[in-house]
Amino acid sequence: MREVAEELNAKQQRLGLVPTMGFLHTGHLSLVKLLEGYCDVKAASIFVNPIQFGPKEDLTRYPRNEARDLELLAEAGCSVVFAPSAEEVYPEGFQTFVEVEELQKPLCGAFRPGHFRGVATVVLKLFNMTGCATAAFGLKDFQQAMVISQMVRDLNLPVELLFGEIVREADGLAMSSRNVYLSPDERACATGISRALFEAKRVCESGEKSVATLAKMIETRISSDPLRRIEYVDIVDSQALTQVDQIVKPARAAVAVYIGRTRLIDNIELV
Ligand code: PAJ
Repeated sequence: MREVAEELNAKQQRLGLVPTMGFLHTGHLSLVKLLEGYCDVKAASIFVNPIQFGPKEDLTRYPRNEARDLELLAEAGCSVVFAPSAEEVYPEGFQTFVEVEELQKPLCGAFRPGHFRGVATVVLKLFNMTGCATAAFGLKDFQQAMVISQMVRDLNLPVELLFGEIVREADGLAMSSRNVYLSPDERACATGISRALFEAKRVCESGEKSVATLAKMIETRISSDPLRRIEYVDIVDSQALTQVDQIVKPARAAVAVYIGRTRLIDNIELV
């Protein structure tokens, strides 16, 4: 990777990177497309980052299919794929971490201690290892996108960030590598998550600005099926990720919901 980076640098070519954990779907590939026009060479990384998983999370069963990922990336026009091993990324004695102190606290951060520290650390390492000039991230992981933006500003990283809209299945379910965990019944039930968010957006657009009312509505819809177990439903300021009472400036509704053992997240812009 270092050799490729140096070669591109010598030719004054810009590398664009899509960091991923593999088991790619159309959401990931939309980010490769998003790089078009912002770089000379498109690259993706595939690395299931152990330090962003909690001890009881799905690190060991996280789905993998590198052969298929490589095919999809080639078709999408990626000419570089960086897929390091965990030992290369975290050799023995590794002890330096990045924390985005405030943005890592709310939403998923409250339920996944250490998660965003793991994300910020690996993303900074991927930026350094690839020497990318541009990187694309999806708004599916909205808090992650905000944490990375803040890190880039705070640490003066010379990387231009691009953000891609959430890519959804035909029935509205946000695409996720974790959707393969769902049984057919669970898959059918998962649609209720995005449906609740779309409904809240409609109600907000037709004049309901009370966060309490909108949040309650989302909660009621999601919990109407006993297969769905809410971890959190929050409506936050789109920049600061802080709680708001009324929708007056850009706000997002964000949810984490367990369907069986599978934890799914989704979010929607309300204004
Ligand atoms: P992963 O879950 O593989 O996602 C890689 C990128 O794809 C992220 O930027 C994510 O937001 C985006 N993405 C996933 N599903 C999407 C969808 N349905 N629509 C649009 N974009 C989508 O996020 C990670 O990996 C990791 O935390 C990583 C940033 C690679 C650090 O380890």
